[in-house]
Amino acid sequence: MSIVRSATLPALALLAIACGGGDKAATPADSAAAAAPAAAPAATPTAAPAASTLPEGQYAVCQACHQANGEGVEGAFPPLAGSEILNGPAEVPIAIVLHGLQGPLTVKGKQYNQIMAAWGQLSDEDIATTLTYERGSWGNTGSPVTAAEVAAVRAATKGRTAAWTWDELQKAKLK
Ligand code: HEC
Repeated sequence: MSIVRSATLPALALLAIACGGGDKAATPADSAAAAAPAAAPAATPTAAPAASTLPEGQYAVCQACHQANGEGVEGAFPPLAGSEILNGPAEVPIAIVLHGLQGPLTVKGKQYNQIMAAWGQLSDEDIATTLTYERGSWGNTGSPVTAAEVAAVRAATKGRTAAWTWDELQKAKLK
């Protein structure tokens, strides 16, 4: 990673090994900020697309992993900003929230192989509001999600007890 380029490399490498691979890639933003040219005019309105003014629903839950800016954490939590999965047919992200997701996955050309727990305990309304927020923020273009759509996927997948693999999810009847 670009941050590791000085005499701190051996120390960081050791730390990464000690931590079992370093699950927290938290410093790129810091280092990018530090490396940014200080001369950039403060008023340039071309920064990352702002979150929208849509109600956030339960996004605080998702934000713990997918981050406030929707960018996720490379290698650990995939991005929601620009995700072809999140912005695709609504039943897919609905099914992910209801039952969780595990195993190999590619988002925006990057590989993940983690586990997301199910959030089916959230109400249909909360899931709809949260997904609508995500699909309408950070430059995303997914259509709004209704509570009725969530209810339909919940009914169609109600026998499901394990987190989906991406493979299963693509074959599943979701509505
Ligand atoms: C504890 C961490 C965590 C939380 C909380 C979490 N996720 Fe995830 N999410 C993940 C991980 C890890 C994956 C990838 C799983 C894999 O590798 O198979 C994922 C994958 C996804 C995906 C598919 C991939 C993508 O980037 O589009 C969507 C959509 C998603 N999550 C939405 C949500 C929503 C909505 C919430 C809140 C209701 C949420 N997640 C909460 C960790 C989390």
